[in-house]
Amino acid sequence: MVRGGVVVVVVVVVVVAALTRAQNINVRDWMGEEPLTPQRIVEDLVEYFSQRDPHGIPVLDVPEPLTIPGERSASGITLYDATISGHSGIRLEYVNVNITSLSAMTRITLPFLNIVGDYDWPGYWGSSSGEANITLVAIQATTELFLGVNSQGLLTVEDVQIDFVYDDLKLDFTGLSYTHSLLVGTASTFFSTVIQPFVVGGAQSKIMDRINERMTQRLAHLTFPDSISPADYAVTKVRNKIREMNMDPFKANKTIDQNLTWGVTIQLKNVEVSGISTIHRTHEVSFQFIDNAVFVTLQIGTQTLAGGADWSLSAALMPGVGGHLNLEIESLAITIEIKQPANIRSPPTLRKIDVQLGNIAVRSGGEGTLDYVVEAAVNILPNTLRNVIMNKLEPRIHQIIQREMNKMDLYRIVMNKLAERGGSRPLI
Ligand SMILES: *[C@@H]1O[C@H](CO)[C@@H](O)[C@H](O)[C@H]1NC(C)=O
Ligand SMILES: *[C@@H]1O[C@H](CO)[C@@H](O)[C@H](O)[C@H]1NC(C)=O
Ligand SMILES: *[C@@H]1O[C@H](CO)[C@@H](O)[C@H](O)[C@H]1NC(C)=O
Ligand SMILES: *[C@@H]1O[C@H](CO)[C@@H](O)[C@H](O)[C@H]1NC(C)=O
Repeated sequence: MVRGGVVVVVVVVVVVAALTRAQNINVRDWMGEEPLTPQRIVEDLVEYFSQRDPHGIPVLDVPEPLTIPGERSASGITLYDATISGHSGIRLEYVNVNITSLSAMTRITLPFLNIVGDYDWPGYWGSSSGEANITLVAIQATTELFLGVNSQGLLTVEDVQIDFVYDDLKLDFTGLSYTHSLLVGTASTFFSTVIQPFVVGGAQSKIMDRINERMTQRLAHLTFPDSISPADYAVTKVRNKIREMNMDPFKANKTIDQNLTWGVTIQLKNVEVSGISTIHRTHEVSFQFIDNAVFVTLQIGTQTLAGGADWSLSAALMPGVGGHLNLEIESLAITIEIKQPANIRSPPTLRKIDVQLGNIAVRSGGEGTLDYVVEAAVNILPNTLRNVIMNKLEPRIHQIIQREMNKMDLYRIVMNKLAERGGSRPLI
C-alpha cells in the first residue's frame, strides 16, 4: 500500500517533469504558493479523492481555458496561441496493477476536449490558414504498461500501449484549401492522420523512457533475480522476515476461551504453530482502482502447518479434564480481498476471506485417555467436514481482522514513511 503511494508520487513527478520541459508553459504557476513536496502531493491527493466526484487534474491548479502561447506543430499543422479547455473534466476511471502478470492498466476519461487557435497548414495542392476549432467528445484513453526484469535485475517498462477512442470529433476550420477540406470533411481520417500520431505517436516511447529513467534512479537498490517473478521474490522477503522476527514457530501467549453449549467451556493454552514461513503465492496478487477505491486481491498459502496446544474442558458440575494435542494441517490456502478507499484517511475493509484447509491429522500427547478420544474423534471426522468447520470460523476471523484494520491509520503510516525518506524536500 505504501509502495502504491510512492508509485503515485513518482507518476505525478514524471508528468510534472514532462510538462516543465514543454516550452512556454510555466508549471510553477500552477503549483500554488507552497513548494511541491511528496508530502504535499499525498495530502493533495487525499483531499482530491475525498470529494464526492473527483475530477480535474489533481495537485496542480491548471487554469481553464488554458492558453499556450507561441506555436505548436503536429503532423504538418501549426497552431498559434492555442487555447485548450475541457481538461477540468478529466477523471481517473480504472487502474489495474496485476503483480502476477507484471502489467498495469489505467483508463482516463474526459467528457470533451476543445482546442481553438489560428492555424497554418501547408500542402502540395494549396495551403490553408485561418481559425481552427477542434472538439473531441467523450474521450477514453487507456494506457497499458508491461513490466519486466532486465539483465541487471532491474524492474523496467518493456512496452507501453496507448489506446485512444472518442465518440465524436467536431472540426471547424476556416480558410481550408480544397484537398485539406476533404481531409477535414472525414473526421475519422483527420483523427487517424493528424490527431492520433500527435497524441499517441511519440507518447508511447516518451512515457517508457521517462518512467524507466525514474525507476533506475529510484529503485536502483531494488534488484530482482531473473529466475523468479518479482511477486514471488517479494514473498520470499516476507518469508525471511517471518524467520527473522522469530515468528516461526509462532507462540500465542493468550489463552483462548470458547463457551460451548450447556455451560461447557473449552480452553486452549500454549498454542504453538510452525510452518508459517512456508508462505507462498498460490494464484493472484493484484490491485485495482474502481470507483475511488483500491481493491487488493491476495491469494497465498502455506505448506504443512503443525500446531500444538494444551486444552482443557470444564463445566459447572463436572471435574475439569484436559491434555495436549498436536495437529497437522497438510496445507493452507487463503484468498483475501481488501477494499481501501482512495481517501486513505478511511480504514480498509476486509471484503472477503476464504480459508481452505488441507487434510488434518491429530496426534495426542498420549498421557490422558481423553486425548485418545479427542484424537479419534477428530481423525474420524471426514475431512470434507474441515471446510464446513472453516466456514463457521471464517466470520470470526473476518471480525478479528476487520477490528485490527479499523485501528490502521494509513494516512499517518504514509506520511511517516515519507518523512523518513525526506518527503518534505521540494521536488522541483
Ligand atoms: C492478473 O494476471 C493473471 C495472469 O495473467 C490473470 O490470470 C488474472 O486474471 C489477472 N487479474 C486481473 C485482476 O487482471
Ligand atoms: C467550437 O465549436 C464548438 C462546437 O463544435 C462550439 O460549441 C464552440 O463555441 C466553438 N468555439 C469557438 C471559439 O468558435
Ligand atoms: C510471548 O511471551 C514471550 C515471553 O514471555 C515473548 O518473548 C513473546 O514475544 C510473546 N509472544 C507474543 C505473540 O506476544
Ligand atoms: C464464558 O462464560 C463465562 C461465564 O458465563 C464468562 O465469564 C466468560 O466471559 C465467557 N467467555 C467467553 C469467551 O464468552
